[in-house]
Amino acid sequence: MNPRIFDSEQDAAVACAARIADAVRARPSLVLGLPTGRTPLNVYRELVALQARGALDLSRASTFNLDEFHGVSAEDAGSFRAYMDRHFFQHVNLAPERIHFLDGSAPDAEAECARYEAELTAAGGLDLVLLGIGGNGHLAFNEPGDSLLAPCHRTKLSRDTRLANAMLFGDDASRVPLEALTLGMGAILQARSVVLLAFGESKAEAVRAMVEGPVTPRCPASFLQLHRDVAVWVDPPAASALSRAQ
Ligand code: GLP
Repeated sequence: MNPRIFDSEQDAAVACAARIADAVRARPSLVLGLPTGRTPLNVYRELVALQARGALDLSRASTFNLDEFHGVSAEDAGSFRAYMDRHFFQHVNLAPERIHFLDGSAPDAEAECARYEAELTAAGGLDLVLLGIGGNGHLAFNEPGDSLLAPCHRTKLSRDTRLANAMLFGDDASRVPLEALTLGMGAILQARSVVLLAFGESKAEAVRAMVEGPVTPRCPASFLQLHRDVAVWVDPPAASALSRAQ
């Protein structure tokens, strides 16, 4: 892994949007994996701007979001689906039937995870997945632990992760659901290309563990060391704990 350190978060977001636009130009039916959180907000804004300038056409692309809160419906303002509608889907020409999402309100969460995994398999897996990283090294909602799961699954959220997501629930961490549905490490590691973004000092230790630490379920992102095509794009504060010159 050889992180690229951009001068600013905005520079990385512009480069990331350009990379996605290039990939869609090369393969209009691209299957994209998409994250939520603060990290990709500027990327979504740049992609919307590219489309407005006629430099991006998503009409044949498909998207699969990485995760959703359990017990939360798409209509709930705190849902990841609502976040994506607000920041991206409402502003681009993705075909609604090619926007794929976990339904957090499905009565049978396990069956919903199996449905989503099957839908992703039918689409041929992810061509390009955009990732953020949790301050504890999580990817999507694959939280650190003794082991990791490959398939899409239901999972408990750590206290830190619930705190980090409080902004979606009126800054009240106690309102953040206790569980989520998430793509597993399999879908992420089988993606043909990975772009991981990390910004700010709060991500510095997770970035160090991902890049320089051992491959361990204690830091799910460390498994990206095993991937053949992964770009880690960071700003200087997120790179500040790296010991090796990059
Ligand atoms: C969230 C999401 C992840 C995201 C991460 C970082 O909980 N499930 O997909 O990458 O945590 O979030 P942020 O970008 O807000 O720091």
